[in-house]
Amino acid sequence: MKFQKICVLGLGYIGLPTASTFATHGIQVVGVDVNQRVLETLKNGGIHIHEPGLRTLVEAALKSEKLTVSNQPEAADAFLIAVPTPFYEDKTGEYNEEPYKLADMRAVTSAAEAIVPYLKEGNLVVLESTSPPRTTVDLLKPILERSGLKAGTDFYLSYSPERVLPGQILRELIENARVIGGVTPESAQVGAELYETFVEGEIIQTDATTAEMVKLMENTSRDINIAVANEFARLSDRFGVDVWEAIKLANLHPRINILTPGVGVGGHCISVDPWFFVEGAPDLTPLIYTARKVNDEQPHFVMALVQKALGALKGKKIAVLGLAYKPDVDDLRESPAVEVVKLLSDAGAEIRAFEPFKPQGSSGITMSETLEDAVKDSDAILVLVRHKQFKDIKPSEIEKMTLTRLIIDTVNTWDFNAWNQAGFQVYRLGANKL
Ligand SMILES: NC(=O)c1ccc[n+]([C@@H]2O[C@H](COP(=O)([O-])OP(=O)(O)OC[C@H]3O[C@@H](n4cnc5c(N)ncnc54)[C@H](O)[C@@H]3O)[C@@H](O)[C@H]2O)c1
Repeated sequence: MKFQKICVLGLGYIGLPTASTFATHGIQVVGVDVNQRVLETLKNGGIHIHEPGLRTLVEAALKSEKLTVSNQPEAADAFLIAVPTPFYEDKTGEYNEEPYKLADMRAVTSAAEAIVPYLKEGNLVVLESTSPPRTTVDLLKPILERSGLKAGTDFYLSYSPERVLPGQILRELIENARVIGGVTPESAQVGAELYETFVEGEIIQTDATTAEMVKLMENTSRDINIAVANEFARLSDRFGVDVWEAIKLANLHPRINILTPGVGVGGHCISVDPWFFVEGAPDLTPLIYTARKVNDEQPHFVMALVQKALGALKGKKIAVLGLAYKPDVDDLRESPAVEVVKLLSDAGAEIRAFEPFKPQGSSGITMSETLEDAVKDSDAILVLVRHKQFKDIKPSEIEKMTLTRLIIDTVNTWDFNAWNQAGFQVYRLGANKL
């Protein structure tokens, strides 16, 4: 099928790169978002998210007029939905005495409803938002069929998970293999034809529910593997072992690949998606549920380490390095580093956080403009995110900025031997007997 014009609903981390890439590959794209601030920023030549190379790409797409932005869809050959699918807590206690996390599908529902008046025979609709199993057939299809058209017969309907890595989105969007699942084989085929516009990786066709499962399985297995790494860190503290050394040695085995412990699991994907399985089948998911709990509890283990290093926290000044949910991104969503800061503040510590990516939405946390502002006069330096630019910091630089010689490194950022030799006392997660 020949695609001349498409609508991309949701201009966030996924939708904006996708819309711009289609536009720079010659397709007329209408980027739709319900957030007026996002639309104004783009219309004024700005950009509301940090992603390497994205500013240049968006500028090129807008300048060529192949990309326009709007607060509502228009008639097009295809509609792509890339809106958020967060969770909210179920307070009913229906599943358990503890609140469960339930998928919040309101944005997908309203995006689908917005498409209905414009849907025509022969159109393609693709859902890219990470969604619970069967969303495409049980939620999306009935809404779109309010148009009077039948999915799989009158229009094509598919699900295609987005698996790009923040920080490398533009490259991975093009190079990664892409799975596209249709409600019919023809829907998958037509979806594949759309992505062929720019995807250089293999495009694999399947059914819609399998494609939904693929994405959830990837993130769930990662969450479980991080949970076990976090438990290894706790065990290492208990038994007086250096977890970083133990993992390095274990990973010399050709069939072992233990992941890295840390302050927890955050972001919009790995800490969210396993809940979609737990919600759909609580009776079948004790392991997935427990892994979520293990990772959510990890900030408390970071607290214990800080207390070990500093004693009572009331009035202690702590310089926090990094708030993002992982290295080299500006994204604070579900960030466990933010959770750690909240716990420390609640215990009376005074926090000065330095986040070099200067994200929006760090409300409530006192942010320092520079590394020096954060560390001067501090009682300890707490590293929560292994940003590349932190990795490069030398003991001699910190020495000039502050009198403190106490480092708490939760993510194995610095060579502790070198810092020890330079006169610093270094506490590391998973390497201290608690
Ligand atoms: N960010 C990632 O790295 C990543 C990776 C893989 C998958 N995903 C999935 O992709 C989806 C989108 O994630 P994101 O990170 O781009 O989200 P985001 O929050 O960055 O952007 C979503 C955008 O959609 C807009 N929006 C909300 N409701 C809308 C509606 N009804 N119509 C039009 N626009 C609407 C919001 O205003 C926002 O600008 C989610 O399901 C997420 O789980 C994200």
